[in-house]
Amino acid sequence: MLQIINLTKTFGSLKAIDNLNLDIPEGEIFGFLGPNGAGKTTTIKIMCGLLKPTEGKVLIDGYDIQKEPEKAKQIIGLIPDHPFIYPKLTGREFLRFIGSLYRIPLKEQEEKIPELFNMFELNQWSDDLIESYSHGMQQKLVMSGVLLHNPKVIFLDEPMVGLDPKSARLVKEIFFNLSKRGVTIFMSTHTLEIAEKMCHRIGIIQTGKVIALGSKETLQENISPDKNLEDIFLELTGGTEYAELLKYL
Ligand SMILES: Nc1ncnc2c1ncn2[C@@H]1O[C@H](COP(=O)(O)OP(=O)(O)OP(=O)(O)O)[C@@H](O)[C@H]1O
Ligand SMILES: [Mg+2]
Repeated sequence: MLQIINLTKTFGSLKAIDNLNLDIPEGEIFGFLGPNGAGKTTTIKIMCGLLKPTEGKVLIDGYDIQKEPEKAKQIIGLIPDHPFIYPKLTGREFLRFIGSLYRIPLKEQEEKIPELFNMFELNQWSDDLIESYSHGMQQKLVMSGVLLHNPKVIFLDEPMVGLDPKSARLVKEIFFNLSKRGVTIFMSTHTLEIAEKMCHRIGIIQTGKVIALGSKETLQENISPDKNLEDIFLELTGGTEYAELLKYL
């Protein structure tokens, strides 16, 4: 469903993505982990057609995001790390706008939008301006926008940041259900517990290269059977040398 082929992205002399290859089947929940600056957001932006690759390509259900952007974009949804939503629209107007962009028939929008407001408990604020929404409410509105057009692939960059425990649980359940229905989910996260519980496979990226790939169990078998994902992540990414840094305290 999702193929990343020999993907490289440079910013000046910096190689943010270094010959990345990934193949993600339909219905998989894929967790993309890595330290700050590893290249996660850059990869997601390229996959969604927001950045041009320096080399290589991305295929979404067979469509090259660079060559056939409209076809590819029709079947994807993105929940970015810093979403932009028009502050002077109401929540309902925003969803109607998204619905029109994706050419969803008005009747379908009228049925689905209230269902989404119900699901995310945004009913009370549906006709208020987005600028009055809290961070978590905005996050839920962006998720509603993505779910509105039934994408085959959903990209999420740090999806749980700012969500209260109930909303975070709801979002997890939504993703499990979507995955069972064949929707492919590609998410970057720093919350290793989420990756551990939710993801069928995990890819760890460091300085633009994938340094580990597989299910949590495979990673444990290959790296250290009795270690949890946090220990494995820190061992692989060299995050355990903090004792040296504490001397600056
Ligand atoms: N527009 C840009 N211009 C120059 N360098 C950039 C640009 N965007 C990203 N970079 C660099 O590319 C590298 C990868 O950044 P990226 O945002 O993809 O990391 P990330 O893995 O998402 O990190 P984080 O966990 O902090 O979100 C970093 O070194 C960053 O400084
Ligand atoms: Mg990022």
